[in-house]
Amino acid sequence: MAMTREDNELLTRVENGAPMGEMIRQHYWIPAVPSIKLEADGAPMRIRLLGKNYVAFRATDGSVGVLDEQCPHRKASLALAQNEDNGLRCIYHGWKFNSKGDLVDAPNHTGDQAQFCKAVRVNRYRVQDRGGIVWVWLGKGETAPPFPDLPFTDLPASQRSVTSVEVPTNWVQAVEASMDSSHVGVLHESTTQITAGGGNQRMLMTKALAPKLEFEEQPYGYRYAALRSVDDGQVYARVNNFVMPWYGIICPPDANSPTTVFFSTPVDDVTHRGWFVQYHASRPLGMTIMSASPDVWNFPPLPPGDPKDNWGQNRDLMKRGHKTGFPQHLGTEDFAMFISQGPIYDRTDEQLCSADGAVIRVRQLLLRAAREFMDGKAPTQAHHPQLDYRRIRSVGGVIPAGTDWRALADQ
Ligand code: FES
Ligand SMILES: [Fe+2]
Repeated sequence: MAMTREDNELLTRVENGAPMGEMIRQHYWIPAVPSIKLEADGAPMRIRLLGKNYVAFRATDGSVGVLDEQCPHRKASLALAQNEDNGLRCIYHGWKFNSKGDLVDAPNHTGDQAQFCKAVRVNRYRVQDRGGIVWVWLGKGETAPPFPDLPFTDLPASQRSVTSVEVPTNWVQAVEASMDSSHVGVLHESTTQITAGGGNQRMLMTKALAPKLEFEEQPYGYRYAALRSVDDGQVYARVNNFVMPWYGIICPPDANSPTTVFFSTPVDDVTHRGWFVQYHASRPLGMTIMSASPDVWNFPPLPPGDPKDNWGQNRDLMKRGHKTGFPQHLGTEDFAMFISQGPIYDRTDEQLCSADGAVIRVRQLLLRAAREFMDGKAPTQAHHPQLDYRRIRSVGGVIPAGTDWRALADQ
């Protein structure tokens, strides 16, 4: 069952024209930067995606531009540019670009400015500023894929929070974890107890009992139910959704709690940006650990150490009962696992078990999309303009044994 070396490479690599990276570029919108990091006329931000550098800025009128980092003139970094009067002005020779990426001023060029500016080719990218995130489409051509209106992208800011952090491992390790139901009650036992104020019964049920998994492929990815028999002929069902190419929509512990969406965007082959979104469809979130984060570009915290000191694992805390020794945040526990797996982990000799079905499916869907792209086709699970992503629901609940879990999810 282990993967071949070729498939592991195809699955994980995104740089230098690797098919997976090119497929993502062409067919998916990529979350690039939390919206609040870009202030009108504020500092531009350097962002790295799929092994290339870009610059993002918010112009005076509030619109966002994303360009190649390197100025098309003589390639100084536009991350150093002035952001003034509806445009980014390169500090080397003063060329200025508006948020659409048009060159509007080239003061060191004599002759017809308008004609010259029009003739200069600027690599600029389509942008959407939605759901507290600036998304970018890095593909070629004029037709961007339809934007996925995920369940949080149209909610008021009070009903969602967005944070992200750069993590030094390949992105797929994190995507796999978002769908890995059987780690939740183990790795996150202590952090879940702490945040739930003394014990979350249902989360603990996920630890005690190996789940039976049932899958259903969807035009956007798949959904699956993790089913655990509990007392009195009841079944605890957790229904989660995977939306290509990296969104894990995780069911909340109860109806009043926010839903969490984890996603992991490839910065390059050995770095990803982990995103944590929480939302509630009908109530303001109030102040949460996420929304109280001091820096939404750098949260949750990475493990505090390096391999020499076991990534800063706190063994004293473990002696006092903490399960992992990473009390910083649930995300810190995940990052410690990803980093300990290595920069790109070798899937050729792993030994999987019955709980790994959802992880295997993530890989299968990503590999299929990369192969379809290599065959010159659009991926099956992309470009569905009629699909209403807002209706995707991840839910948990106790149902009588023998009841179809879909009834829970489709209410
Ligand atoms: S390098 Fe940017 S204006 Fe010359
Ligand atoms: Fe986790």
